[in-house]
Amino acid sequence: MNIVILAAGMGKRMRSALPKVLHPLAGKPLLQHVVDEARALDPETVVVVYGHGGEAVSQAIPGDDLRWVLQQPQLGTGHAVQQAAPLLADGVPTLVLYGDVPLICAETLDRLLQAGGRDALALLTVELDDPTGYGRIVRRDGRIVRIVEHRDADEAQRAIREINTGILVAPTPALKRWLAALGNDNAQGEYYLTDIVALAVHDGVRVESAQPGQASETLGVNSKLQLAQLERLLQARIAARLMEEDGVRLADPARLDVRGRLRCGRDVFIDVGCVFEGEVELGDDVEIGPYCTIRSARIGAGTRILPYSNIDEAAVGAHARIGPFARLRPGTELGDGTHVGNFVEMKNTKMRAGSKANHLAYIGDASIGERVNVGAGTITCNYDGVNKHETVIGDDAFIGSDTQLVAPVRVGRGATIGAGTTLTHDAPEGRLTLSRAKQVTIDSWKRPAPKKPRTG
Ligand code: UD1
Ligand code: CA
Repeated sequence: MNIVILAAGMGKRMRSALPKVLHPLAGKPLLQHVVDEARALDPETVVVVYGHGGEAVSQAIPGDDLRWVLQQPQLGTGHAVQQAAPLLADGVPTLVLYGDVPLICAETLDRLLQAGGRDALALLTVELDDPTGYGRIVRRDGRIVRIVEHRDADEAQRAIREINTGILVAPTPALKRWLAALGNDNAQGEYYLTDIVALAVHDGVRVESAQPGQASETLGVNSKLQLAQLERLLQARIAARLMEEDGVRLADPARLDVRGRLRCGRDVFIDVGCVFEGEVELGDDVEIGPYCTIRSARIGAGTRILPYSNIDEAAVGAHARIGPFARLRPGTELGDGTHVGNFVEMKNTKMRAGSKANHLAYIGDASIGERVNVGAGTITCNYDGVNKHETVIGDDAFIGSDTQLVAPVRVGRGATIGAGTTLTHDAPEGRLTLSRAKQVTIDSWKRPAPKKPRTG
């Protein structure tokens, strides 16, 4: 089939410099959601009609399979589809979607395509308690005869609760004919796509309807409030899927945000307030404590991420313990059974199995072997103000507390670095290395006496 996605509207009520269809929902632009659902239908052609926002819109949505058509000025939904008409193949039906209706599901569209497209026009409709603002579906003896827009409707028509969602499928040659016949003699002076319904009836073409799985699939975004409402709806869907399909235990499905793809093994537990972005993979039995943010990361089986940890483009092995308040920055790879404790920041660091950095440290551009103990307050001085340098620590080394490792520097296997050391040269394996001023005790020293209060 051909798919036309209408995305030219201005979105004035968003009160934003960003084009409406580029506002993010669950971490991806509204229009990207619609494009992804469209692709799931394996269409011949996808045409996106854009206008407001210009090239910024096409640049934000990648894909050689998309054809972009500029609608300038915007003279209505019928005028928008007219712009796409030359790109539509006659041999297949044409499906019209809206770039600002992001929750539409491929299954619903499949049902609509069953109802029409070859020889019938099919509309996706829903019944609303409050249909104000929408186009009403006018039926005679049960058959759809036309759509009347709210602003053009009379009292009796406004009482109709079945509304046009705007999504429809039509036989393409007939659609092109109807589009060419549209006028703009209506309350808004626009070319209404909805007027093709009466033209179809006039031509003796059947007009069918289908309904979405859930009415919320057809909600549009016109304001930040509606955007936030759709975000909650989509997050609820994601949470339900995690629980029902992957068996994830969520402390509270309403306090989870997934802005990307979260894949989980068996018996994963996620506490409240966590945010997942990009591609995140959690192994079996992983536990994520409250208020963690995890982006583009892989967490191995049985690992516990304790509260308030921040993980970004990092990989953690199995049975590790991270946090609370740990920060793993891009390029961090931690082996099995590693421990990274509170207020430890790691960047571009590989730390192998069984090693620990339990408290208050900055480890950047380092390569740490197995079973290493990194003491509290250890800092890799990896940056000389111009270049970054590497720190290498061998297996079984022990780095005493409050050590500065001035890179480039190496600590040999099994070496011990005394507390408080500023290491500027490589430390040999198996030996104690330390740099420290000698401790002295001054025998003659006396505490100063308090000053006498002045008299007189
Ligand atoms: C439209 C329908 C109405 C339906 C409602 C559902 C028409 C005439 N009316 O009304 O029956 O109940 O949607 O939300 O179709 N757009 C363009 N170019 C334009 C005008 C609009 O690309 O020149 C795009 C908008 O960006 C938007 C979509 O088409 O994605 C719908 O436009 P909108 O102005 O919201 O249509 P409504 O007046 O709400
Ligand atoms: Ca609308």
